[in-house]
Amino acid sequence: MMTPKDKWYEVIPLRHSIRAYTGEPVPGELLEQLGRVAAGFSGPAARVVVTTEAVSQVFRGVAGSYGSIVDPPAYAAVIGNKADPTFQLMCGYAGEAVVLEAVSHGLGTCWVGGFFHPDVVANAMTLAPEEQVLAVIALGMDAQAANFSHRLIKKFARSHKRKSLDELVSGLPQTEWPAWMGAALECARLAPSAVNRQPWRFLAEPGQITVSVDSLSDTYRIAKRLDCGIAMLHLETGARHLGVEGSWTYLDPPDVARYELTTK
Ligand SMILES: Cc1cc2nc3c(=O)[nH]c(=O)nc-3n(C[C@H](O)[C@H](O)[C@H](O)COP(=O)(O)O)c2cc1C
Repeated sequence: MMTPKDKWYEVIPLRHSIRAYTGEPVPGELLEQLGRVAAGFSGPAARVVVTTEAVSQVFRGVAGSYGSIVDPPAYAAVIGNKADPTFQLMCGYAGEAVVLEAVSHGLGTCWVGGFFHPDVVANAMTLAPEEQVLAVIALGMDAQAANFSHRLIKKFARSHKRKSLDELVSGLPQTEWPAWMGAALECARLAPSAVNRQPWRFLAEPGQITVSVDSLSDTYRIAKRLDCGIAMLHLETGARHLGVEGSWTYLDPPDVARYELTTK
């Protein structure tokens, strides 16, 4: 039987941000499944709530060249606990679990960190004083995919505009990477990030990968550490698909976290 990590590994190259939806409701069972994944990844630093509550107001009236999200029937609210120093990382990590699970069930998704109404989300759920809605993730059927046959979609499969591994990774040369490291870094490279800024950098060393940010200044009022949390889940998914297990240690800026193998 495939573990979620294997299922997620397969959808990482297929995932793209979807900004126009059919509006068709997400089946209740699927919303429940996404809710279970969200709950499983929620903890003291971050929680993710999958809901349809006030969805038409969350994305409404924020049209523009970037950030216009049309007709999603559901969303995930990504809520951080500002009292925990890892809250931004954990928001990215937990939110992306819902993204990969949703994509593995054929849904379109899009992280929205800039143009949404956090006040509407906050009113739709009860937040503790130290909690903040960092982002929402639109969920639903891709309007474009609904208009094309599967074969056509495959034929026109879009490529990801990403920096090369040469630009992102320092340390061990690629020729010395074990298979798990190559898979982990390629999955991390394909992670989504706000305005595709790809702020993550990786130091490859024997048995470990350290994630850091390219610079300490955040842009577009969206924390780069949120993007890094997303890349961390992708990195771990790639590593685990190749049969290794590891654990994360959180580090001080500009470093973010280190993934160290616990199986060699
Ligand atoms: C934290 C975060 C915030 C984002 N905010 C927005 C947003 O406000 N509006 C939008 O249209 N896309 C948003 N995106 C989607 C990115 O633009 C997109 O992930 C990136 O361009 C890479 O494209 P891809 O997801 O199709 O691979 C966001 C992505 C992330 C990770």
